[in-house]
Amino acid sequence: MIDIELKSVDEKDIQFTFDLYQLRDKREKAEPITLESQKTFIKNYVNDKSVFESWVIVYVDKEKAGTLSLRHSNGELGYYFLPKFQNKGIASISLKKFLKLNPREYYTVIVDNHNTHSIHLIEKLGFNRNGIQYRIESHDIPNDIPK
Ligand SMILES: CC(C)(COP(=O)(O)OP(=O)(O)OC[C@H]1O[C@@H](n2cnc3c(N)ncnc32)[C@H](O)[C@@H]1OP(=O)(O)O)[C@@H](O)C(=O)NCCC(=O)NCCS
Repeated sequence: MIDIELKSVDEKDIQFTFDLYQLRDKREKAEPITLESQKTFIKNYVNDKSVFESWVIVYVDKEKAGTLSLRHSNGELGYYFLPKFQNKGIASISLKKFLKLNPREYYTVIVDNHNTHSIHLIEKLGFNRNGIQYRIESHDIPNDIPK
């Protein structure tokens, strides 16, 4: 049986979380980060938990496999696993553990349309689709304002 452990992110995880961030699908249009900005972000998390209520590394048989996070503001979950730990049931098990450890009234997830794995995962966990998120690049905003 696989051993799955969740441990709070700390300063030893700067490189791992940075590397995992670089693997994000380009279509996600994630904000670019540097190793230095990640160091600051983690220090802030360790000191005052300002953005995330909880942020953990998922260890599978003692090896770092991915991360889970929960935002204070809207209960938004984030979940990212290294490719070799995907499609093995690890995301489902660790998310269920994470939700139990972090009880709150509701949780949200923002998923891009193309991310069928993520949609499958959360729908299996019982999440309901309750809206559509739109995005526009600022250079595409129409400038035809009448005088
Ligand atoms: C999105 C993401 C977390 C989904 O996780 P996942 O690895 O697909 O999730 P799981 O492994 O728990 O479940 C998926 C499939 O694994 C397989 N699986 C489940 N348990 C298994 C087991 N014990 N052994 C082998 N395979 C298993 C099943 O095929 C399962 O599908 P099913 O539920 O229809 O049976 C993962 O793809 C990922 O990290 N992607 C990159 C980051 C990302 O996109 N994050 C989300 C941003 S919104």
